[in-house]
Amino acid sequence: MHRLQVLSKQLTSGAFTERPSTISSSADYERLYKRSIEDPNGFWAEMAKDFVWSKTWDKDHFKSNFDVNNGPIFTHWFKGGKTNIAFNCLDRWVAAGRGSQPCFLWEGNEPHQQRTMTYSDVLAEVCRLSNWLLSQGVKMGDTVSLYLPMVCELPIAMLACARIGAVHSVIFAGFSADSLAQRIMDCKSRVVITSTGTMRGTKPVDLKGIVDKALDLCNKGGHKVDRALVVEDSSCPLQPGVGFQASRDVWWHQHIPQQAAQCEPTWVDSEQPLFLLYTSGSTGNPKGVVHTTGGYMVGAGVSTKYVFDMQPGDVYWSTADCGWITGHTYLTYGPLLNGAVCVLFGSTPTYPDQTRCWQVIEKYKVRQFYTAPTLLRSLLQHGDDWVTKYDRSSLRVLGSVGEPINEHAWHWFHEVVGEKRCPIVDTWWQTETGTHMITPLPGSWCKLKPGSASLPFFGVQPVLLSPEGKEVTGHGEGILAIKGAWPGMARTLHNDHGRYESTYFAPFSGYYFTGDGARRDEDGYIWITGRVDDVINVSGHRIGTAEVEGALAEHPLCAEAAVVGVDHPIKGQSIYAYVTLTDAQRQGKEMRQILVDHVRKTIGPFAVPDVIHWAPSLPKTRSGKIMRRVLRKVAMGQEKELGDVSTLADPSVVDLLISLRGE
Ligand code: WTA
Repeated sequence: MHRLQVLSKQLTSGAFTERPSTISSSADYERLYKRSIEDPNGFWAEMAKDFVWSKTWDKDHFKSNFDVNNGPIFTHWFKGGKTNIAFNCLDRWVAAGRGSQPCFLWEGNEPHQQRTMTYSDVLAEVCRLSNWLLSQGVKMGDTVSLYLPMVCELPIAMLACARIGAVHSVIFAGFSADSLAQRIMDCKSRVVITSTGTMRGTKPVDLKGIVDKALDLCNKGGHKVDRALVVEDSSCPLQPGVGFQASRDVWWHQHIPQQAAQCEPTWVDSEQPLFLLYTSGSTGNPKGVVHTTGGYMVGAGVSTKYVFDMQPGDVYWSTADCGWITGHTYLTYGPLLNGAVCVLFGSTPTYPDQTRCWQVIEKYKVRQFYTAPTLLRSLLQHGDDWVTKYDRSSLRVLGSVGEPINEHAWHWFHEVVGEKRCPIVDTWWQTETGTHMITPLPGSWCKLKPGSASLPFFGVQPVLLSPEGKEVTGHGEGILAIKGAWPGMARTLHNDHGRYESTYFAPFSGYYFTGDGARRDEDGYIWITGRVDDVINVSGHRIGTAEVEGALAEHPLCAEAAVVGVDHPIKGQSIYAYVTLTDAQRQGKEMRQILVDHVRKTIGPFAVPDVIHWAPSLPKTRSGKIMRRVLRKVAMGQEKELGDVSTLADPSVVDLLISLRGE
């Protein structure tokens, strides 16, 4: 039996208990922060002792190069160490007497659909699935693709992969068959786990039908998936016409219960890949961001503990879907590494009506609630009574993620939802950073400024750079970059280390380039100003303009397309597309619908443009580069602020576009 190195955590805590915050003063934060920067090797080694390792890391376990002029970019943490993150999420708590504590409190599409799984239940199910994966020949390092709605089987499948050293790739169940096929082929999964379908509000979503189409596309592309394991969702059975391929498809409920409920974890090197997660960039295909095991585990566990003031037994709810990074780090790994009770929400926050969130908080006595500004903006417009009729006295910490939170939404969250009692942790981070980077900590000592992500988390050195790459010191504005490595960072892009280097490290040698702009105020607080590249943030989801343009341009009647993000009162930004047709006669409502359907089919419903603006031609520089700045201004009706258009090859295009707005 492996020695459990630290089990001396406090075992009792409840939703309503008052207790000191994890960090109790500015001086404490400053001392720990300073130490984390001056001695990262020692600081993180100390933090790592809170986890179970089968082999301790080397004394000098951390090494990194961020300078492209100095050889390949790399980072390793806890070198020499071996661990298993699923063991740290589950076995450890069962061994410590928490086996009968709920691990997942699942609530389905309808409020009465509920399921509780204890830590022992989850451990047993993870082991069964691990054994099944092994029986299918899945080995350490193989990638398994997961295309599931928010059911307990999704985090269970992630943990089962992690238990045997396989790499999971979760694909958000809103992506189309084309996108799914592209992602399965990219990482060559031979096993896919999915479900019959799911209900989103009143709408059935035919997931198995989408998987069937995707796997046909994979076959055509020369990649064969051997097995699809299917979870049966009784509220959304197989759609008419969607079948089972006897040679490929198997039911979860027939195959998994037969497996043994024990499975020895595979202890892996710290730098063994844990998961791939595809995300959008400003150009090209989605990037398969690779996170590894040891550093990510320590980063996820430690940030969850400090940023949410989390202790074992706390009831925590994040509205994120496991299909995005928040669902990985702050729904699955981080909370389970801290022995929390996680609410898994399988519905939409406005179904059956806009009180759903507050009902869930009351019902499960949620202590920490983590959500996105877009949801707050959509709920606050209905007034306060919808919120206040539910009991929110269990809440202690509120969190925001995904986009800048505007002051109005911040105050509503703080005053109405949190009754002025709960600090808001406005957490800035990214798929690539893996873990929180800039965020307040939830102690009364930490001054909160509505709209500011505040101060760096331990081990993070944010800098603001001028376009020439000079560090802006003191109070000022610039491009947000990170100096020095942190444990949770992505190590590479799947099969494309060159793209990893050129995207994140080549723009400013010696720094990780975030793609965001930011401002630092007199108190050293950071205010994120938004993306500086061609990435749009719609309702907290990243979408590359190039991806939407690519999808539009694939349509035979589309000659050219240019996509920009414009401000949107609820979604933060919305997608606005300029399209030049091969035949201008086709402009009109019908064509618009054809293009919208085409984007939905190619990427997924969330990438559909809100507006399609017919463009006989696009404003380009003499070298042929589309001037998006001009397109953005025209889209927002700010033609008085167009700025210099003298470098356009044909400046008259701008007036033509303005005249066609709303056509
Ligand atoms: C934006 C989501 C302002 C930012 C975790 C970043 C934010 C992108 C915040 C990453 C925040 C995330 N304040 N902007 N608190 N959090 N962003 O990869 O533009 O889906 O670069 O990761 O979201 O999006 P991603």
